Amino acid sequence: MDGNGRWAEAKGQRRLEGHRAGADSVRDITRASRELGLEAITLYAFSSQNWARPAEEVAGLMQLLREFLIGERSEILDNQIRLEAIGDIDKLPPMVKEPLDELRAASSHHRAMTLTLALSYGGRESIVRAVQAIARDAASGVLRPEDLDVARFSGYLPTAALPPLDLLIRTSGEQRISNFMLWEIAYAELVFTDVLWPEFRRQHLYECLDVYANRERRFGLTSAQLASDV
Ligand code: FPP
Repeated sequence: MDGNGRWAEAKGQRRLEGHRAGADSVRDITRASRELGLEAITLYAFSSQNWARPAEEVAGLMQLLREFLIGERSEILDNQIRLEAIGDIDKLPPMVKEPLDELRAASSHHRAMTLTLALSYGGRESIVRAVQAIARDAASGVLRPEDLDVARFSGYLPTAALPPLDLLIRTSGEQRISNFMLWEIAYAELVFTDVLWPEFRRQHLYECLDVYANRERRFGLTSAQLASDV
């Protein structure tokens, strides 16, 4: 969800106003995704590296997250959405962690769509944590190293319960991954749009989905193989 700061600065506003407008985009995109019947969406709301931003910006983002969790609680529950989180959640202040944990528990049985917030999240950090757990299981004899394969490794990641990642959208014209779902993007389609996140609304999501629908996903096969349904 990139471009909040630039959007605000272009209007002569403080960066936090960009994040506030970005929270409106979050609401619209979440609603549209639910209406479209998407199985899961994950929003990269705060990276492991974002803790190093100015304290005022970090505090403002935490406040916005709290407002979102409290303000959207009933809509999330009414729409059978399961709220999840990935990342180093224990680092979050109680003002965010408490409503987050509460909404995760209250929505855990919902099946219409999974909305995952990536908070204090880093793709590399997730992989390192998975390797630590794997090493522990190998040392205790729960896992034989020769039994480790792609599927088992995936099971140690925080995204294990999510469907395979089909589409990654990055806003604001930057063409980088910035430590997001590094393992999971292996066969994802990447769509980069110049639209800044505070201006990214459902019509832009539809455009990205159109681009995605016109891609040929080959997963290492040839077009001919796909055409003959191998
Ligand atoms: C990146 O833009 C965006 C963030 C670091 C924060 C994203 C947060 C929100 C959209 C609002 C709160 C989230 C929820 C789920 C309610 P940037 O600040 O790096 O923008 P820039 O590159 O233009 O400076």
